[in-house]
Amino acid sequence: CSTDHLLERLYAKESLDSEEIVHLLGQLDQTSRRRLHALANQKRVFHYGTGVYLRGLIEFSNICKQNCMYCGIRSANNTASRYRLRPEEILDCCREGYELGYRTFVLQSGEDDWYTAEKLARLIADIKRRYSDVAVTLSIGERDDETYTRLFEAGADRFLLRHETASRRLYEALHPTMTFENRRDRLRALKAIGYQIGAGFMVGLPGQTLEDLAADLLYLKELNPDMIGIGPFLPHEATPLKDEPAGTLEDTLDMIALARLFVPRALIPATTAMGTAHPYGRELALQAGANVVMPNLSPLSVRPKYTLYNNKICTGDESAQCRFCLEQRIERAGFHVDMGRGDSLNGLAAP
Ligand code: 5AD
Ligand code: FES
Repeated sequence: CSTDHLLERLYAKESLDSEEIVHLLGQLDQTSRRRLHALANQKRVFHYGTGVYLRGLIEFSNICKQNCMYCGIRSANNTASRYRLRPEEILDCCREGYELGYRTFVLQSGEDDWYTAEKLARLIADIKRRYSDVAVTLSIGERDDETYTRLFEAGADRFLLRHETASRRLYEALHPTMTFENRRDRLRALKAIGYQIGAGFMVGLPGQTLEDLAADLLYLKELNPDMIGIGPFLPHEATPLKDEPAGTLEDTLDMIALARLFVPRALIPATTAMGTAHPYGRELALQAGANVVMPNLSPLSVRPKYTLYNNKICTGDESAQCRFCLEQRIERAGFHVDMGRGDSLNGLAAP
């Protein structure tokens, strides 16, 4: 089956089987890549037009009890300079963000148990009381059902929890302190509680095969998340994977485009890792089907400390005004900024 034929079928049917995905990935060349990205862009324009949603990202703690092999803030990394913003400091970031026009705040951290359900619930309720027209997205890792429920009731709208990889073999090799089943179980729990959920994975993980990437797409298709975060694996110098090669920009763009074609109505960010892999990585991701960008709203003093991988962009003082830098970049790439809440289309009628 030719790549062209597979791409046409994928565009129409919004799925392929594992064997077909592997075949497609193995056959991609410059011409078919361009076609893949153009089809993904077309699909995104059909559902979302050319708007790009901005989310204000607040990295409020880099303290983490887990020990993922790839991650710079893993608990075993004793060279990391640890910090935790106080709730008042987080509220200050929200005020600044609100004044800049942001209507979604993404609260992201390591798995930091100082932030109990009670403290988080109070913080979320405070944010929602002050800013009634914002969405709050949590990205804080695995917690129990009771905590997830309590935070939802406090007003959290969305939850990002990447599945990281749909391959059990890889998942287990990379996550010594977590289990493959529990990860999936947590995603199901979040969805059942009523959150808009975000899953996603890394591309170019050491040992990752085309079959593993096919499994990622099929898992996403089945889960049907509201949001999908995809980025290249990038080595961090103080982790066991420090000498492994990074995932490539090209492979990651292909997976973003395929995610758009498999889950057409998902919100897909052009991730910071894409911007780190290539100076125009985020723009290229938008042109391959992504439609969200998440500028950093964290205080400048802590930004260099939230290092999941080396060379992360937007951590210096040039980035104080990411909002306007990005607005220009987004327009030059052929899109426009939409400062609305940008809720999931799931449950709404198709255009
Ligand atoms: N390279 C790329 N992405 C990483 N993440 C964590 N460490 C790395 C790394 N070294 C991603 C994970 C996590 C998200 C917040 O960042 O997918 O879910
Ligand atoms: Fe951060 Fe441009 S987006 S400096």
